[in-house]
Amino acid sequence: MDPLLACALAARENAHAPFSNFKVGAAIEDANGRIHTGCNVENATYGLTVCAERVALFKAISEGARQFRRVAVAADTDTLTPPCGACRQVLWEFCGDIEIALVNPGSKVETFRLKDLFPRPFDASYL
Ligand code: THU
Repeated sequence: MDPLLACALAARENAHAPFSNFKVGAAIEDANGRIHTGCNVENATYGLTVCAERVALFKAISEGARQFRRVAVAADTDTLTPPCGACRQVLWEFCGDIEIALVNPGSKVETFRLKDLFPRPFDASYL
């Protein structure tokens, strides 16, 4: 399997999702080929939950990465789980029109461009 997808599936195993029981993993490949992973981390106040995609991206940013090639998102759904709206916004700001691969534990895979999932984005060009 594509290592990026395998990393997203593996990261999903670390999800802290006691409230939703919906485990998500993410992996992002930077311009140097390094893979940064994340899982969703829930909170009893719910609203402070952070999605797997933002955990992976913020980990990457905090390690100094600034350019990215691909993102993978893993969840155990037959209809593959896409990033939520908040994650699409944040991914757009840091990654632009990046490739996003969705995968499930049965190795079903679909690939999208962020622009297609998030048309007409707001970003810093409007400020
Ligand atoms: N979640 C993610 O981590 N990424 C997604 O793309 C969709 C949703 C998490 C947030 C929450 O912990 C759980 O899945 C249910 O919404």
